[in-house]
Amino acid sequence: MQKKVKKAVIPAAGLGTRFLPATKALAKEMLPIVDTPTIQFIVEEAINSGIEDILIVDGKSKRSIEDHFDSNTELEDNLSAKGKDKLLKLVQDTTDLNIYFIRQSHPRGLGDAVLKAKSFVGDEPFVVMLGDDLMTDKIPLTKQLVDRFNQTGQSTLAVTEVPHEDTSKYGVIDPDKEVSDGLYEVRNFVEKPRPQDAPSDLAIIGRYLFTPTIFDELENTEPGKGNEIQLTDAIETLNHKEHVYAHKFNGKRYDIGSKIGFLETNIEFGLKHPDTKDELRSYIKKIAKTL
Ligand code: G1P
Repeated sequence: MQKKVKKAVIPAAGLGTRFLPATKALAKEMLPIVDTPTIQFIVEEAINSGIEDILIVDGKSKRSIEDHFDSNTELEDNLSAKGKDKLLKLVQDTTDLNIYFIRQSHPRGLGDAVLKAKSFVGDEPFVVMLGDDLMTDKIPLTKQLVDRFNQTGQSTLAVTEVPHEDTSKYGVIDPDKEVSDGLYEVRNFVEKPRPQDAPSDLAIIGRYLFTPTIFDELENTEPGKGNEIQLTDAIETLNHKEHVYAHKFNGKRYDIGSKIGFLETNIEFGLKHPDTKDELRSYIKKIAKTL
């Protein structure tokens, strides 16, 4: 019988150089969208997709991530004594989840970070979720990948259309047959091709579902682009042994890995957040007149 997808791996060892100096001592995954650290959105997507165990692959200066998912009795006692029950619930909601941590001691690339999850994953299918992309849709994107896996039993990753000039920021696929609505067989997976070399404008976004065979490929993957072990290169070789499908995502993607994307996401979420939406809307209208 096909195994259930119960495990997620969240690589969070990147240096966050795009957000320096903020990320000198603070994990970039802890930067908030309004009031919630970005990694919490990823963990919530995992849980809402039926994931039971999560491994966060972190690195130096990442203690705050571990603390965020731990209890904080001093803070909890204080909020409880003041009767601040709503805040207390927010603090307690992020504890008692099945979250595990492992360190990637040397930054050798995304492929190497995923390889660190080998013994956690064992012989099961699993998902990899990158923190630089937030996705919203009626069904969480990770759940969409799990549903595809339940039909095909094969690895599947999420893609979306990007502007042609942006292909060099992503892994890009060369799509073959569309086997069912929005599900593609793929000829090749190419890491960050220049626009003139890109086989399509369909870019890999940060959600993947793998069979454990990916680890055999990662172990044999030589450093590629940027002298790092590239996950995309391991996917390319896996696709010669098993199918790796591409699932087209039609929901909304927020690129929080860039400064402008991070600001835009904060504004859009701030316009929906009950504590900020009204004041932020009037502020934007006011400031727009002065621009
Ligand atoms: C990584 C992957 C790339 C993928 C991207 C999605 O790149 O290597 O294939 O398209 O994530 O966000 P990074 O953004 O870490 O440079």
